[in-house]
Amino acid sequence: MSAGLAGRRLLVSAGPTYEDLDPARFLGNRSSGKMGFAIAAVAAARGAQVVLVAGPVHLATPAGVQRIDVRSAAQMHAAVMQALPCDAYIGAAAVADFTPRAPSAQKIKKQPGQDVLVLELVKTRDILAEVAASAQRPRLVVGFAAETERVADYARAKLERKRLDLICANQVGQAGCGFESDDNALLVIDAAGARALGPAPKAELAGQLLDIVAERLA
Ligand code: CTP
Ligand code: CA
Repeated sequence: MSAGLAGRRLLVSAGPTYEDLDPARFLGNRSSGKMGFAIAAVAAARGAQVVLVAGPVHLATPAGVQRIDVRSAAQMHAAVMQALPCDAYIGAAAVADFTPRAPSAQKIKKQPGQDVLVLELVKTRDILAEVAASAQRPRLVVGFAAETERVADYARAKLERKRLDLICANQVGQAGCGFESDDNALLVIDAAGARALGPAPKAELAGQLLDIVAERLA
């Protein structure tokens, strides 16, 4: 089945964010961006107008997709908010939860005798929750949840707390799935229930998720 997305405007965020500590170092995470890029690719192939806000990844821009590259969580927040309005926002990025309070303009040097470095980090803005609370709220707001335990419970709590329409829960660390893998398994949760997708190639999962998105937008 290939539900129609023709003419729909989809905003997708993908990949990690990098939070700079100094000109030589950053805090990052293990997201490859493959799931978000697969969603953008399949949506464009189905006729959607796709804007893809991408963190630092090594992936080619899918055909027909408008790509905006960002580095930090703050840059991703600004790019996503600026790309509204849209019909659906799919937040597949692994956004840093904390960023250095004061990045150093110069490379941080070890002090003589120093054995410990304490970093002071401040919370980033929650892009997904802000999109869902925005005056320009898309009709459909879809989140992802990376969990290592109590996957369905934690994901459902995020669905409710952030006022999402759907959340796709990912068990991190499952064999053959997740971060750098080409395969993944998702538990798609909404107010009514949950549906398991995969394990399957990310392109196939993207198609199944977009069937649900298209149905909701119809
Ligand atoms: N997210 C976001 N902005 C943030 C943090 C998270 O938009 N600053 C989004 C992610 O893109 C994802 C969803 O929120 O779609 C859930 O991310 P996740 O890391 O699983 O949950 P958190 O709410 O950050 O909670 P925690 O990491 O503590 O589990
Ligand atoms: Ca997080």
